[in-house]
Amino acid sequence: MVRLSFILRDPLKLKQAAAQTVIVIYVALNLLSTQWWKDVPLGPPDIILGIFEAHKLDNNPNKIDLSVGAYRDNFGKPYVLPSVIKAEQNIVDKKLDKAVANDIGSEFFRQVMFRLAVGDDLLDRPHVSVQSVSGSGSIKIAAETISQLYKGNKLIFIPNPSWAYHAPIFRLSGLKTEFYRYYDERNHELDHSGMMTDLTHLPNNSIILFQMVGHNPTGADPTPNQWREISQILKDRNILIFIDMAYQGFGTGCLSTDAFPLKHFIEEGHMVVFAQSFSKNMGLYSVRVGGVTFMIRNEEEGKSILEQLKHSALCMYGQPPIHGSQIVEEIFRCPELKNNWENEVKMMHKRISSMRQVLLDKLHQNGSSRDWSHLMKQKGMFFYSGLSVEQCEQLINEHSIYVVKNGRMSVCGINEHNVDYLAHCLHKVTK
Ligand SMILES: Cc1ncc(COP(=O)(O)O)c(C=O)c1O
Repeated sequence: MVRLSFILRDPLKLKQAAAQTVIVIYVALNLLSTQWWKDVPLGPPDIILGIFEAHKLDNNPNKIDLSVGAYRDNFGKPYVLPSVIKAEQNIVDKKLDKAVANDIGSEFFRQVMFRLAVGDDLLDRPHVSVQSVSGSGSIKIAAETISQLYKGNKLIFIPNPSWAYHAPIFRLSGLKTEFYRYYDERNHELDHSGMMTDLTHLPNNSIILFQMVGHNPTGADPTPNQWREISQILKDRNILIFIDMAYQGFGTGCLSTDAFPLKHFIEEGHMVVFAQSFSKNMGLYSVRVGGVTFMIRNEEEGKSILEQLKHSALCMYGQPPIHGSQIVEEIFRCPELKNNWENEVKMMHKRISSMRQVLLDKLHQNGSSRDWSHLMKQKGMFFYSGLSVEQCEQLINEHSIYVVKNGRMSVCGINEHNVDYLAHCLHKVTK
């Protein structure tokens, strides 16, 4: 007390004390702020990208990357579709500007996207669509919108297994997630009876996610009849069906045939939300173009959903990027270009299918007596091999063949130049 009054009476001491106090507060605040992020755990690693990065650093001339789910040509190179190159030339020649079209993508783009999904017969079904950032962005803004608006059970059932980001996207958007049985690991096929049992017990008013075709990671798709059964079992129970169409075209090579499950659900009167992506079927991976559609019952409902989708997108990333939608529009505007694109999709599918057959033949030639029949039965880009983690690690560490450790291999990475080595090593780690 005596000391304080002594300081207060002496202006110089008062100044010094004030300066010291400021320094102490400054240091304390600084110390505090350096603690803010101290115990933040690492974000979950992207396992596939990690494997891909390791592949890039590997000097083995025989190395093979089968980790990334992206199409590669017969020399293992990323493939730019000729129809896309032509569309890009058109965009330059026409000197199209880069102004924002609107917040939800151009009307033509959205019409084209809807028609690609549902075909010609269901065009009059009420819906709202918005362009978004590829499949991921489309799923995300749909998830946000469902989380905000949906009056039912905010619980989505996801196939087990599924694309690694399905569950986190829905969870981070505020939905609860659970899994339904999807794959029979022992027999390497769809767990049809397990799935049907789980679907029978879904709570009414909940949400279910399906991958429409080329299921990632298993390649196991229901047959048309099994889709009909699924539709039947979900009928009249007010279950919202969410369809991820990321691999349209890679199931059969025919974009329209691949869309059968979606069309069937709509025809049967289900409430459906679907997310589209041009990453895979137009090879526009890093261009990020796609969109999401909500089938609706009336205009009023549609208006709110559309506004909500727009709001989610504007808060997340603003307007959708225009370059990709211009490419898609150019391709669909010109019948010849569209025809070329459809043939390119067929060609990609054909190369993948033929590589499945070549790999199977080479495995047999190497003397493998293991049952590889699932290699031929699975659809789309992936071979869900059934290899153990140890066998996958052996492929990576001893043979420089980079696969996902759940046994998933991207068939896109197999070509005439590496299939002998792959078959030899695959047999070696499995015999
Ligand atoms: C099943 C599935 N859905 C969606 C996506 C998202 O892809 P994109 O955002 O490139 O369209 C992927 C990517 O691999 C996927 O496998």
